[in-house]
Amino acid sequence: MRVTVVGSGYVGTTLSACLADAGHDVTAVDIDPDVVAALNDGRAAIHEPGLDDLLAKHVDGSLRATTAYDSVPDADVTFLAIGTPSNADGSIDLGGLTAAAEMTGEAIAAGSDADPDRDTAARHLVVVKSTVTPPGVAEIRAALRAGAGEAADRVELATNPEFLREGSAVDDFQHPDKLVFGTDSAWATERLESLYDPIVAAADGDVPIVRTDPETAVMIKYANNAFLASKISLVNDLGNICKRFGIDAYEVADAIGLDDRIGAKFLRSGVGYGGSCFPKDVDAIRAAAREAGYEPALLDAAVAVNDGQPERMLDLLDAHADVAGERVAVLGLAFKPGTDDVRNSRAIPVIDGLLERGANVVGYDPVATENMREHFSGEDIEYADSAAAALDGAVAALVVTDWDEFAALDDGFDAMTAAPGSAEPVVVDGRRIVERRDGIAYEGLTW
Ligand code: UDX
Repeated sequence: MRVTVVGSGYVGTTLSACLADAGHDVTAVDIDPDVVAALNDGRAAIHEPGLDDLLAKHVDGSLRATTAYDSVPDADVTFLAIGTPSNADGSIDLGGLTAAAEMTGEAIAAGSDADPDRDTAARHLVVVKSTVTPPGVAEIRAALRAGAGEAADRVELATNPEFLREGSAVDDFQHPDKLVFGTDSAWATERLESLYDPIVAAADGDVPIVRTDPETAVMIKYANNAFLASKISLVNDLGNICKRFGIDAYEVADAIGLDDRIGAKFLRSGVGYGGSCFPKDVDAIRAAAREAGYEPALLDAAVAVNDGQPERMLDLLDAHADVAGERVAVLGLAFKPGTDDVRNSRAIPVIDGLLERGANVVGYDPVATENMREHFSGEDIEYADSAAAALDGAVAALVVTDWDEFAALDDGFDAMTAAPGSAEPVVVDGRRIVERRDGIAYEGLTW
């Protein structure tokens, strides 16, 4: 099939590369000429395992990038994968997405010179990949129709949310847990089925497909992320209770996970969730709910618990040492292992709290240092080249990201030194990754 993907950010690039790899002919459209040039060179602007390989394999063949919408009129499917940044109140800004929808509509109405035999009565399917709220779907549809003008009745909007995790986006796309098609017609559903057929076939047909309307499909995406974020906050809430009773929350979590109504995944309590999806999506659906007159009490609480975990980490530190003027190591800056993304990383509030206490902060991360340096530009923070270098002379270490290498630090902790007035240096582990050691006080956040 001929596919156009408008927007070459994280989602758009992954989608373009994976659809080309699935055998489709893909044109990626982006307004940024640098992004387009890099893509045509086989390079993604984002770091994602396997993505550059796919790009290199298919550019000059079934995948190309351009700044123009020329491919839209002849596309069997046009995806919109434009970012939806957050507004101050947590709602999402649909400006970029509505502009792209309008331009897509205009391109369809203008038609293409490339194919003079083109069926001018052909229907067009435009699929929103970006995460939009149910009321947002109507806005995008209206923008698409406005752009299409007299051709409005020939364009149909569908939604097809993605559930990709950073660090395994390509693999998640190729091996999905489910596909969600939100359409207003059997025609659109069938077209999406054909598009994803190679992925489903590769899994021997073993991919559940949810066929529903466009608004329900995007609600499924929000519910999915809100549920997972709340699951983490619930284990954190229970974990905070366990800590007060001297109980190991991981022992409790392992046991409750045996109940298959609960499930064993996403039960790791600690310093909380970060990243580009959970915080943003939970905020967006809360804002949309409020706008519609509903107070989402449980989701509000999930956010409050998540916001509180870095503070609890700092409280545990305070109980062991006064860190004013002292060297404190922050191990892990990325929001999770396997990525250099620091968006909403729990390391940010942790470092803020340390700076407020007058500590000399030294951060270490195997890949995210530059991004964190940019985030905290102007602040007096040292960045070490290794965890061992960060720990050298530190009175405390706060473990924020569960990079495997932190589990193997062993002797590295012996280079720490006790703060004045403290008996021992302290490790506050926010991810249960570090081994306890003699001579070093150890505090787990929920164990
Ligand atoms: C998430 C969803 O998993 C994905 O389906 C969606 O499309 C985008 O958001 P991602 O943000 O890449 O993906 O990361 P994920 O691996 O889900 O982790 C999110 C955060 O939760 C991380 O900060 C992680 O450390 C934290 N987490 C996860 C926990 O604190 N405890 C857990 O048990 C699991």
